[in-house]
Amino acid sequence: MLDLTSTAGFPSRRHVPPRNDAGFVSLPERREATVAAPHAAFLREMLAALDGRPRAISPKWFYDAAGSALFDDICGLPEYYPTRTETAILTRHAGEIAQLIGPHAEIVEFGAGSLAKVRLLLDALEQPRRFVPIDISGEHLQAAAQALRADYAGLQVTPVVADYTLPLQLPEALPGSGRRVGFFPGSTLGNFTPPEALAFLRRAAAVLRGGALLIGVDLVKDPAVLHAAYNDAQGVTAAFNRNLLVRANRELGSDFDLSRFAHSAFYNAPMQRIEMHLLSLTRQSVRLAGRHFRFDEGETLHTEHSHKFTHDRLRALARQAGFEPGPVWTDPRGWFAVHWLAAPA
Ligand code: AVJ
Repeated sequence: MLDLTSTAGFPSRRHVPPRNDAGFVSLPERREATVAAPHAAFLREMLAALDGRPRAISPKWFYDAAGSALFDDICGLPEYYPTRTETAILTRHAGEIAQLIGPHAEIVEFGAGSLAKVRLLLDALEQPRRFVPIDISGEHLQAAAQALRADYAGLQVTPVVADYTLPLQLPEALPGSGRRVGFFPGSTLGNFTPPEALAFLRRAAAVLRGGALLIGVDLVKDPAVLHAAYNDAQGVTAAFNRNLLVRANRELGSDFDLSRFAHSAFYNAPMQRIEMHLLSLTRQSVRLAGRHFRFDEGETLHTEHSHKFTHDRLRALARQAGFEPGPVWTDPRGWFAVHWLAAPA
């Protein structure tokens, strides 16, 4: 068995960059006719992950119902500072941010995450005109839209079911509306690789022309603080990571042995990112779709990148994407940052 007590020097990803699931209708590589269509994209990507070297899968697959509930639990953990830190920053500076945004604004949220954060903005804004949440899950969007419509009379809620990592078309601005401002909280940007982050920011700058992007990112800090945030004492993050295998067993009929895969999360300092992996504790074989996949002891399935930023790095990336970086708000410890990035017309 491996020593799991130290993962710090281990060699070396929501809602996350969701990729397009639309390809699930054509399945040349599909081997199990019994898998329902919604699971087909998951099957395809899991097979690709198991065939790949190194083995890696998009963190978007974490978020089934159980995974989403576990992520909500993570946000409340004492060690997981990002959610409460960003919420405190937004609460404290909502007035100033609302001044920059101006009246009759249109808020475009990339990924309809928890509505709690956008409510902080909407509450501070002068007569917000429209809210456009973009999410790949239509169901999630409708529930979110309904809740907001009930609470904000006069706010038009226009959900867009789309993958915001792909080229995107937004509804035309309403006549007489103010600035169009994108909202991308939660350090979701950190889930992208640097080229993916740049591509996302370029597309955001294009759809937000003449407006701005308000983006929250987690900051580079003491690795011990980062390590604790992804290795909580209650094991919720471990359960979140391992739920991917639980989901695969249920939805794809694989036979991952949960007692032989451990949660591994460590800070990769040169890359300025937390990496999460599922680490094989023994040499073993996993069956999926009639095939066998061998894991060596110590071999991993890479499940997530969570990049950490400096102000300069985020600003440089933003400039490269065509934004003009503006004010940045942070917390007293300098653990999390919310950036105002203007999108020239
Ligand atoms: C939702 C991507 C911001 O990277 O911190 C939390 C997900 N993973 N604990 C993050 C996550 C493990 C989270 N993001």
